[in-house]
Amino acid sequence: MTDMSLMEALRVQRSIRSFSSRPVPEEALRAVLRAATWAPSAGNRQPWRFVVVRDPAAKRQIGLWYDDSSRATYGNRPGAAGSQPTFSDSPVIILVCIDAVSTNPGPRSDFYRGASIFPAMQNLMLAATALGLGTRPTTMHRHHETDIKRLLGIPDSVDVAAIVPLGYPGDGEHFGGKKRKPLSEVAFDGAWSKPLSR
Ligand SMILES: Cc1cc2nc3c(=O)[nH]c(=O)nc-3n(C[C@H](O)[C@H](O)[C@H](O)COP(=O)(O)O)c2cc1C
Repeated sequence: MTDMSLMEALRVQRSIRSFSSRPVPEEALRAVLRAATWAPSAGNRQPWRFVVVRDPAAKRQIGLWYDDSSRATYGNRPGAAGSQPTFSDSPVIILVCIDAVSTNPGPRSDFYRGASIFPAMQNLMLAATALGLGTRPTTMHRHHETDIKRLLGIPDSVDVAAIVPLGYPGDGEHFGGKKRKPLSEVAFDGAWSKPLSR
C-alpha cells in the first residue's frame, strides 16, 4: 500500500468520475472502512453502517436508479447523467448508511443527522486517497432509495445517505487541481465584514 501525509491527502482528494478495472485489494477496502469508523459522531453513537457492493448486476441496477433520479432532478441537461451507466466501472461501491432510528431516538433535523455520517464518509474518502484509490460522494440515488434498500435487504429504519464508488482512477483521471474559492472569500477575522488576510 502507498501512503501520503494527511495534509497532502486533503489537498489532492477530489471526485473521481471514471475508474480502472484494477481490483481494489481487500486489505485496502478494510483500511478505508476502518478509517471511516474513526470519525466523530454525536454522543459517540456511531450510527454508520456500510454496505459493500461488488456484484456487477447490483452495481448496474443501482447506477440505473441513480441516473433515473438524476434525470428526475435535472432533466436531460448535459452531464446530468452520463452516457455510461453510473457505478458500473468502479470495482466496488460503498453505500454509506445511517442507522439513526435505533442509535439516536427522537426527532432530529437532517442537518443534525448528516453531521454524524458525513465526517465518516470524508474519512473514508481521504483514506482512499492516501492509498491511491479514487472515490466520489454521491447522493443522487435518493428518489430510488426504497428500491435500493429492497434490493440489498437494508431495513426501513436505515437511511442510505450516500453512495461512494471506490477504485483506482481511470485513464485521464487525476488527484489534485480542485477548484476552490480563496480563503479571503470564505473566512473572516473577528467580524463578517473583515476578510481574513493572507
Ligand atoms: C453532499 C454531497 C453530495 C454530492 N452528490 C453528488 C452526486 O450525487 N453526484 C456527483 O457526481 N457528485 C456529487 N457530489 C460531488 C460534488 O459534485 C463535488 O465534490 C464538487 O463538485 C467538488 O468537486 P471535487 O470533489 O472534485 O473537488 C456531492 C458532494 C457532496 C459533498
